Amino acid sequence: MSNPVLKVEGLRKEFGGLIAVNDVSFEIGKGEFVGLIGPNGCGKSTTFNCISGLLNQTRGSVEMFGEDVSELRPDQIQNLGMTRTFQHTRLWRQMTVIENLMVPPRGQFGSSFSERIRALLVPESNPEEVERLEKAYSVLDQLEVPHMAHNLTSELSGGQSKLVDIGRSMMGEPKLLLLDEPVAGVAGPLAMKIFNNLRNIVDETGISVLIIEHNMDFILRQGVDRIIVMNEGEILMQGTPDEVKGNREVIEAYLGASGEPLEEEE
Ligand SMILES: Nc1ncnc2c1ncn2[C@@H]1O[C@H](COP(=O)(O)OP(=O)(O)OP(=O)(O)O)[C@@H](O)[C@H]1O
Ligand SMILES: [Mg+2]
Repeated sequence: MSNPVLKVEGLRKEFGGLIAVNDVSFEIGKGEFVGLIGPNGCGKSTTFNCISGLLNQTRGSVEMFGEDVSELRPDQIQNLGMTRTFQHTRLWRQMTVIENLMVPPRGQFGSSFSERIRALLVPESNPEEVERLEKAYSVLDQLEVPHMAHNLTSELSGGQSKLVDIGRSMMGEPKLLLLDEPVAGVAGPLAMKIFNNLRNIVDETGISVLIIEHNMDFILRQGVDRIIVMNEGEILMQGTPDEVKGNREVIEAYLGASGEPLEEEE
């Protein structure tokens, strides 16, 4: 792949004696929508944590936009154009949806965090904040939920909270978005809508999205370009949904040796 947006090479992460991620290598191209899939505990979130700088890898390297980011802090990596969400949604529960979009995500504070909070209280006083407010509304439009703008996030369903979390990750106009199980626990129709919207956003803006999901049947039908399959800390295979569907090793990892081929559900 020429000029990948993300290049992970020989990534390994040990926790004491446990090898959570072992020799993982893959690339993500510009404008690619890629699924990262695998059974519980196979190392998906740990891979994200190493890529985004939250954990130091034991071995291996991570390049983003052609730059080695292996030794950078999360905020430095974010400043290059990468944003991630977490498996457990972290929203400001006593704020409205639009206010949540205006505040940078927890754990990724820039130096201007306190200024942002202050400006949030008197937005009309600050042209940059007015621009940010317009951006927040346009993100809600992109996700097709403008009507949620003034709801308190504490009143949202789990699925709606996940949407707000995705919306917030889009506020900084990232070039690379890492989403950790954004539809876990989300009802089927809303989950499909979220994938559909992400597909459109990728196509319209050219950003790259790497999305963790652990339901194989589900991801096979959601319009991703490519799927990376992990098992027990390692990459089992990478390929198009059709290639993954027909791969015996994948079938065995998911269903046991006697498994039937994975079929699309009606
Ligand atoms: N901070 C940590 N300290 C020790 N062990 C950890 C830590 N984080 C993850 N692990 C272990 O590393 C392995 C991989 O965990 P990880 O969270 O990456 O899996 P996952 O594929 O994201 O699973 P899930 O689908 O359940 O979210 C697991 O055995 C987990 O218990
Ligand atoms: Mg995980």
